[in-house]
Amino acid sequence: MQLSLFPILGLIPLSLAAPSAGAGSWSAAYAKASAAVAKLNITEKVGIVTGVGWQKGNCVGNTSPAPSIGYRAPCLMDSPLGVRYAQGVTAFPAGIQAASTWDRTLINERGTAMGQEVRGLGVNVLLGPVCGPLGKNARGGRNWEGFSPDPYLAGIAMQETINGIQGAGGQACAKHYIGNEQELNRGSMSANIGDRTLHELYLWPFADAVKANVASVMCSYNKVNGTYSCENKHTMTEVLKGELGFKGYIMSDWNAQTTTINSANSGLDMSMPGDDYSGIPSHIYWGPKLVASVENGSVPESRLNNMAERILASWYYVGQDKNYPLDTFDAWNNGTGGPDVQDDHKVVARAIARDGIVLLKNDDKVLPLHKPKSLAIVGYDAITNPDGPNACTDRNCDNGTLAMGWGSGTDQFPYLVSPLDAIQAQASKDNTKLVLSTSNDVSAGGNAAKQADMALVFINADSGEGYITVEGNAGDRNDLNPWNNGNELVAAVAAVNKKTIVVIHSVGPLILESILSNKNVVGIVWAGIPGQETGNGLADVLHGSTSPSGKLPYTIAKQPSDYGTDIVPGDDNYPEGLYIDYRHFDKAGITPRYEFGFGLSYTSFSFSRLSVRSSATSGPTHGSTAPGGPSDLYSTVATVTAQVKNTGKVTGAEVAQLYIDLPSSAPDHPPKQLRGFDKLQLRPGQTGTATYELRKKDLSYWDVASQKWVVPKGTFKVYIGASSRNIKLTGSLTVH
Ligand code: NOJ
Repeated sequence: MQLSLFPILGLIPLSLAAPSAGAGSWSAAYAKASAAVAKLNITEKVGIVTGVGWQKGNCVGNTSPAPSIGYRAPCLMDSPLGVRYAQGVTAFPAGIQAASTWDRTLINERGTAMGQEVRGLGVNVLLGPVCGPLGKNARGGRNWEGFSPDPYLAGIAMQETINGIQGAGGQACAKHYIGNEQELNRGSMSANIGDRTLHELYLWPFADAVKANVASVMCSYNKVNGTYSCENKHTMTEVLKGELGFKGYIMSDWNAQTTTINSANSGLDMSMPGDDYSGIPSHIYWGPKLVASVENGSVPESRLNNMAERILASWYYVGQDKNYPLDTFDAWNNGTGGPDVQDDHKVVARAIARDGIVLLKNDDKVLPLHKPKSLAIVGYDAITNPDGPNACTDRNCDNGTLAMGWGSGTDQFPYLVSPLDAIQAQASKDNTKLVLSTSNDVSAGGNAAKQADMALVFINADSGEGYITVEGNAGDRNDLNPWNNGNELVAAVAAVNKKTIVVIHSVGPLILESILSNKNVVGIVWAGIPGQETGNGLADVLHGSTSPSGKLPYTIAKQPSDYGTDIVPGDDNYPEGLYIDYRHFDKAGITPRYEFGFGLSYTSFSFSRLSVRSSATSGPTHGSTAPGGPSDLYSTVATVTAQVKNTGKVTGAEVAQLYIDLPSSAPDHPPKQLRGFDKLQLRPGQTGTATYELRKKDLSYWDVASQKWVVPKGTFKVYIGASSRNIKLTGSLTVH
């Protein structure tokens, strides 16, 4: 957009274009990149595509500079929730919390704020966002780094996050491509995914990322259909670069590469971190070995040129060739040496901590709190780790309130406002006496709860990346129970306090049946993985300055087996196909405890006046390939609207969700699939219009035989609801 204005404005020279020209043009970027690559010799080009080795630069990943073309050594840094291993950065809410808001604007603002921190620190590439794992396994260790097992929600969140990061001048990296759905044996197992399942579930959000012009994609540790992801010509070259028209570059996950020649010829563009962590020169797959392979013709020089062009084009595309700050911090020296880049980003961090909270249960309107005389606060999840919020490296412990999971998907808390901190501040205003028991000691918790009118019990469940084991959980969770006697703690409190409210910080679904069996549990607040502003976001909801408006981005089942999927010890054949999360519950007729899309409010809403306008025609897509796939796949073919009214007494926001059911002419398909959502903030009595623009993609299935997206003939059902199982309006759309 920036560029297209210049002909009109005439006089403005291109060099005045915003340095963060996130919406640049690929063709201009490629013109510069191929001119630059033409000036380089083989060794220089190999330097651009090969990492300098683990901890040999000042970032998590670095490659070599090419001074003759003005290309500085780029800096690649984790994570999907903020810049890891740096000081003076924001610890944003995790991806899953952002998704839980169902608020595009907030998701975009989070991306923008992360991009500003990336740029401010002189980081070139932020290693996020995540849509692999998508989240097919409820116990999957890294699901919280991503957004949702629903590909549509994940895809929109990918787009908004990438637009934010790249709009601010950083390069984003969509990861981990593809099938990295578990930590167990991630470096040896094969995800055997059928073509239709791949397209309609796991590839879908990556396609949205490509559509958003993501600069880079990280191939994953696992095999896909028997071939390592970073050696896989089908997934890298045919699908990502071919079918999806991806213009950026593919980097390996750290040491996920297993060959020199095959990885190059299969489509890998950048080797990270460049060695296998051992520092032994002969263990480097590219570098001198790639030089030799190009010289002896095993890797065509055109392939090497293409790698370097893709990397340089992405750098030009986001405008990092112009006035980009130099990175001055050292990731390997506590992240010191860089500027403080937090700015006012705590505002969006708090908004997401708050608006991602899902109110699951609120009997007799026990919430919001109305200045209770006394309140018991029970559980270690209410307080900051007594040793400090960053005491455990890469958050490799579960001491104190859970505000991020563990592993590479973390960053340093600049501070942490714990739930207790924020509740204490409000209690002193309200004259509420607090009775504390900030451990999970069951009898101490019961004693505290006895002495108060109401009790808040804090419990959690953690998970993370598999290189770390915490309390016996090797990345993936061992089970779907709260940690450290959480159920027993709740029972002890509920046994003595008639107004027991449970606050849960969790990386993903938990089985809540034990908790719900206590009749004195009158409220459940699902507070997610909220980052540094956790306490403030929670207090906003507990005390009612904001009505809760988050919705579950996954299903909470009554028992683990209801999910129909689980972590497997060997290869995973994905027998469930398209049927993960609510798609499976709907198809199998299983009643969840709390369904996908569920969340209560302090107000109430009514829905009316569904309108469906469609110009969709049946048949395959036929557009030319553009980033994201055939260009027509993303064109709007139907517009749906519905009226939502706030019928209650306080301001609140409703996420009006649109699900479709494909016509019977389509092959076997889920009964409902999310294909739109609109979050409306409404005053009491106010009516708003939820608007959904359905893309051709949203009405299509992947036809394996023709290898095309196809809009089926017939009548689609269109559902508008407050959740996947609370459908308020039903309409239809007929395609000829
Ligand atoms: C491995 C993780 O899978 C990836 O997400 C991360 O970016 C790299 N390590 C670098 O830390």
